[in-house]
Amino acid sequence: MTSSTTARVYNFSAGPAVLPESVLQQIQDDMMALPGVGSSVLEISHRSKDFDEILFDAVARIKSVMSVPDTHEVLFIQGGGAMQNIMIPANFITDPSGVADYIITGAWGKKSAGEVKYYGKLNVAYDSGSTKYNHLPKQSDLNLTAGAAYVHLTTNETIHGIQFPQLPDTGNVPIVADKSSDIMCGPIDVSDYGLIYACAQKNAGIAGATIVIVRKDLLERSGDRLASYLDYKKHADAGSRFNTPSTFPIYVTGLVCKWVEEFGGVEKMEAQNKMKSQILYDVVDGSEGFYEGHVVDKAERSIMNVVFKLGSDEMDAKFIAEAKQAGLTTLSGHRSLGGIRASIYNAMPVSGVEALAAFMKDFAATNG
Ligand SMILES: Cc1ncc(COP(=O)(O)O)c(C=O)c1O
Repeated sequence: MTSSTTARVYNFSAGPAVLPESVLQQIQDDMMALPGVGSSVLEISHRSKDFDEILFDAVARIKSVMSVPDTHEVLFIQGGGAMQNIMIPANFITDPSGVADYIITGAWGKKSAGEVKYYGKLNVAYDSGSTKYNHLPKQSDLNLTAGAAYVHLTTNETIHGIQFPQLPDTGNVPIVADKSSDIMCGPIDVSDYGLIYACAQKNAGIAGATIVIVRKDLLERSGDRLASYLDYKKHADAGSRFNTPSTFPIYVTGLVCKWVEEFGGVEKMEAQNKMKSQILYDVVDGSEGFYEGHVVDKAERSIMNVVFKLGSDEMDAKFIAEAKQAGLTTLSGHRSLGGIRASIYNAMPVSGVEALAAFMKDFAATNG
């Protein structure tokens, strides 16, 4: 593989990440001129009728793919997960004495919790940091606050490869979930959530658009306390066009949702994601310790980010270098954890996972 080749590799990047080839093709086809418009999506006004169609279509497809009920609003907001970490406490903790509970099961949840102090009181309901986020809490482990403004969790921790198989019971306190790396990986009941957010650059599109799905009654909490851009209600009232939205990322999210629909929807996607991740976990489990998975309980292993390591940093580096030579790229673990991380989002084809599994078996046989 040389740097001048344009052949596509199997790209296991954690994000921005692989997109469906048909989506890339569609973008290419539309790039000089959208059909019937004569200009590309990059060149048209965000208030034009042509962009209306793109935005309404993307929102409608998210609603359809995720079966979003009428109780919830779908918004696009800029600023990624980082902005949501701020907007959530800003909007939902209505007075500085208010408490928000955070269940911290990885680095992203920890980062989210760090913003609460500007708006109210943080209660860490659980933190698995002392064991490098290798397990999830049981319900009885949670130190939840009665009357908390909300409970925040990260349904899939992208760095540590740990995913909630089901939500904890939080009574009538709304659940706020970072689903950046597992949105649309399978069916969920949106009515279980007060708010869902996902930066799109992993499973739902490209960097620049963040999907926010918020229960409409919670919008009333925003009040008139906030600087305008921070206020969910203002974004909702403006139909995601409070200011110039990220037009191109929204268009790409619409195409990705269409691709999910054409694939057969999120139920079928989940079956494929489980199958794909199992192929890799089977190699890890069958390697007699050559590969060591990060997450302790098999039921908590992510179907999106498969995280494991070899016996030493040198072996990890050899694995990554040789995999790259074989056209299997971006397999290094996050710098905070090391090891290997194979991100196998919806758009990673089964053939990519099979190629990685075959490589892993060969590598273990040669180096074990
Ligand atoms: C679970 C999760 N949350 C949040 C983020 C951060 O998103 P952003 O860089 O858009 O702030 C990431 C990104 O890598 C992530 O995986």
